[in-house]
Amino acid sequence: MKNIKDSFANPNIKVPFFTPSLSTSDKKAVLDALNGKLLTNGPKLIKFENQFRKFVNSKYSVGVSNATAALHLSLKVLGIGKNDEVIVPNMTFVATANAVLLAGAKPVLADVEEDTMNISPESILSNISNKTKAIMPVHFAGRSCDMTKIMKIAKSYKLFVVEDCAHAIGTKFKKKHVGTFGDCGCFSFYPTKNITTLEGGMVISNNKKIAENTRIARNHGITHSLTERYSKGFPWDYEIDDAGYNYRLDEIRATLGLSQLKKIQIMNKKRRDAFKYYNKFLKNITGVSIPNEKNLNDHACHLYVLRILKNKFPISRNQLFKKLLSAGIRTTVHYKPLNKFLIYRKLGITRDKLENSNKLYDEIISLPLYPDIKKQEQDVVIKTIISIQKNL
Ligand SMILES: Cc1ncc(COP(=O)(O)O)c(C=O)c1O
Repeated sequence: MKNIKDSFANPNIKVPFFTPSLSTSDKKAVLDALNGKLLTNGPKLIKFENQFRKFVNSKYSVGVSNATAALHLSLKVLGIGKNDEVIVPNMTFVATANAVLLAGAKPVLADVEEDTMNISPESILSNISNKTKAIMPVHFAGRSCDMTKIMKIAKSYKLFVVEDCAHAIGTKFKKKHVGTFGDCGCFSFYPTKNITTLEGGMVISNNKKIAENTRIARNHGITHSLTERYSKGFPWDYEIDDAGYNYRLDEIRATLGLSQLKKIQIMNKKRRDAFKYYNKFLKNITGVSIPNEKNLNDHACHLYVLRILKNKFPISRNQLFKKLLSAGIRTTVHYKPLNKFLIYRKLGITRDKLENSNKLYDEIISLPLYPDIKKQEQDVVIKTIISIQKNL
């Protein structure tokens, strides 16, 4: 055990990639929740669901154990399975496509737009077949996809839309929160996300039936909640119409979610300020391309993705990653495209060349970004990139 090295405790790291924002009140709320009588699927969860529903302005919300579970449940509840195709962006976290495989369907990889890195409506069109049942747009890095174009395609081909909003807590498109355009929206509360419950997720929908069936499937397929079962009749006498899952969100996490949600606007503003600060000082560096600031107030600024242009910046993205690391700055890449994974080379389908996602993959680097990042920390990142650009 002694030999296990905690690389996150590396003393040479001056700027971590991410630091969680957990306040004293968050911690106190979690401890208080431990005194509850019902520690899972209880009143705090209902409260968190209601507050989240109000925040995004959707009719229904169902808290679940993580966003992967949210995506999986959504597809199952929509009846998507064997022989069906679901279109996903090639540039996303594997969970989006994994959820399609978990539902028994086939992921179809669409390319992304070069500037926004969001799924390209043109590529969606070229990937539609007579087996296509749904589109899963991902609001990449916290910037909304063009939901007008996507919903138009969905309507004309009669496709479901499951929005992957894992990066997009606080993201709006034309004044409406994302996740409310499609049949359902799936959120993640993983530690790096814009609010966290440590592990956790939420499905939102404006469709009562979808929400009810999601709620049932989240808890083994049991048709009545524990409270309902104890309030009338015999608590053990429930019904199961279809086998469900244990994708519940416990009371401790729901309590943390409630506490975090109170601060979402403040935390997102801090992310936005940090995003603008990077842009201000990186925009004039030759060989890099900064993320655009279009509709920035509707952007959740989940990630700050810089492009290191091939043959224009003195070194490659991989070399830059290594140099930043040796200068004590942690960065990473979001993401290795799906078509580069063995499983999606075998099980993924595509009717596109996926040129943009494969080109972007060699050029993108995500810089440290979190609500409490200090200007001095950002200055270290900015100055290091400038000096690397100048010295070579
Ligand atoms: C785009 C995207 N979709 C889905 C997920 C899965 O979220 P979770 O870890 O809550 O299952 C993530 C998580 O990082 C993500 O980034």
